[in-house]
Amino acid sequence: MPWLNKLYFGDCFTITREHLRNASVDLIYLDPPFNSQRQYNSIYKDETGRPLPDQTDAFCDMWELDPETERSIRAAPILMRDHGLDDATVQLWQQWMRALRHTNPRLLAYLAYMSLRLLDFHRVLKPTGSLYLHCDPTASHYIKVLLDAIFGHASFRNEIVWCYTGPSNTRRWFPRKHDVVLFYARTQQAYFNRDAVRIPYSDETLARRGRIEGKRSYIAPSVETQERRTDVQVDKRFGQGKVPEDWWSDIPILTNQRERLGYATQKPLALLDRIIEASCPPDGVVLDPFCGCATTLEAAHNLGRRWIGIDIAIHAIRRVASVRLKDRCGLVEGEDYTIQGVPSTLEGAQLLHEQDPYQFQRWAVAEVEGFVTSKQTADGGIDGRLYFDVPSEPDLQSMVLEVKGGAHVRITDLRALRAVLDDDLALMAGLIIMEPRSPHQTRNFERYMAQAGVLEVLGREYPRMQMLTVPEILDGKRFDTPTVAGVHIPQPVLPGIQRAEA
Ligand SMILES: C[S@@+](CC[C@H](N)C(=O)[O-])C[C@H]1O[C@@H](n2cnc3c(N)ncnc32)[C@H](O)[C@@H]1O
Repeated sequence: MPWLNKLYFGDCFTITREHLRNASVDLIYLDPPFNSQRQYNSIYKDETGRPLPDQTDAFCDMWELDPETERSIRAAPILMRDHGLDDATVQLWQQWMRALRHTNPRLLAYLAYMSLRLLDFHRVLKPTGSLYLHCDPTASHYIKVLLDAIFGHASFRNEIVWCYTGPSNTRRWFPRKHDVVLFYARTQQAYFNRDAVRIPYSDETLARRGRIEGKRSYIAPSVETQERRTDVQVDKRFGQGKVPEDWWSDIPILTNQRERLGYATQKPLALLDRIIEASCPPDGVVLDPFCGCATTLEAAHNLGRRWIGIDIAIHAIRRVASVRLKDRCGLVEGEDYTIQGVPSTLEGAQLLHEQDPYQFQRWAVAEVEGFVTSKQTADGGIDGRLYFDVPSEPDLQSMVLEVKGGAHVRITDLRALRAVLDDDLALMAGLIIMEPRSPHQTRNFERYMAQAGVLEVLGREYPRMQMLTVPEILDGKRFDTPTVAGVHIPQPVLPGIQRAEA
């Protein structure tokens, strides 16, 4: 079967374990949450450029010791031993985790989360493969200790410092203007093509170099011999430019309007180009397990590499990544790549709900062209909004969306939704439920919803309260509203960093 690039919706830990074979990937670039204790939003506008009142939350980078984290903490030493880490290292890890429980439980949660994933990423790398982990000084030193343990100290290649400039108003420390990319090789045979990433010399450097050559006769003979040998090597490569050092100041943060997608943590293509060209052979496979708005996938595509992207956020998969792949790369879903893990059947939706009710809600909202809400309304239970234009109103109007994935949907759920309408918080309200109710309950629901009346726009009437089931949504049925607004328009975002400047 010919290779198809793949975009997975889900937790990269589950996806890599269930879908990726040992030693099957040439390069992993990951730009995971950095432990910034922040919530990131995506910026959406309508077709006329009006910002949508609610910005969907892109992802959450806040960490705490919840039951899942506790499970990861318990599982990590077992997986580390299975993976071949020596006892002393595993014991050191356990001591460290014990110490953090009292001193920095959030860091403990973050490191436990990362450890399980990094162990599996190491497994899927080919012997010639490499991993680049993009982070910042918040946790880079801790992550390096972890990577040294998993990959072995000898496999460390570089700590690349990506420097940038941008506004800052720090008063008590220097502006924090760099990210860290930790580069590890799977084995000593790892592919690395430094010639592919040479930077052409500037005219100024070339001219300066000419002057240095002219002074050579004043250098003492022993030094001169040494210098000359060096120069011969440099001269051979001179026309091709220089290999970048491990600090990169020549790649600006996203300034290119055309490149911006409004994804809060979007990275520049040029950064990914350099990493891919240096460490992925021309026919190789690049994996980005935290692919966000698919920067890595576009770079891999442009450079003729194959790719696998994973993201846990449905809006990243549905809107941002697929828009980028379709509109920018001209790729066709089903022909050039597949999207996996997004429910296409009732059973798939039920499974998603069982595994992760929150992701199920997000999926359902995105499926009806809604936006996951990042603000809670008075009743605290609104899951999303769908925006539309009403000619008489200057601002966008909305339908609030409520998703009920469980079996027990009652008339009280409808009453709560109706309260939102009565409080004038939206013009319309939509309820999404998993499966059709009994005919009797359906009739009751319909009767109740009809009491909310209709919205009249341009002589057409729209029921103010509506309900859709998951099978109806999967069949393509949508809420009956005036034309839905909201497209992802490239937006200025703060410098391409995730960290908050205090
Ligand atoms: C820093 S962003 C990546 C940005 C990306 N490099 C780009 O240029 O757009 C991190 C991404 O990881 C995703 N994410 C967080 N936890 C995840 C997990 N467990 N599995 C897969 N993706 C996850 C978030 O939804 C977010 O899109």
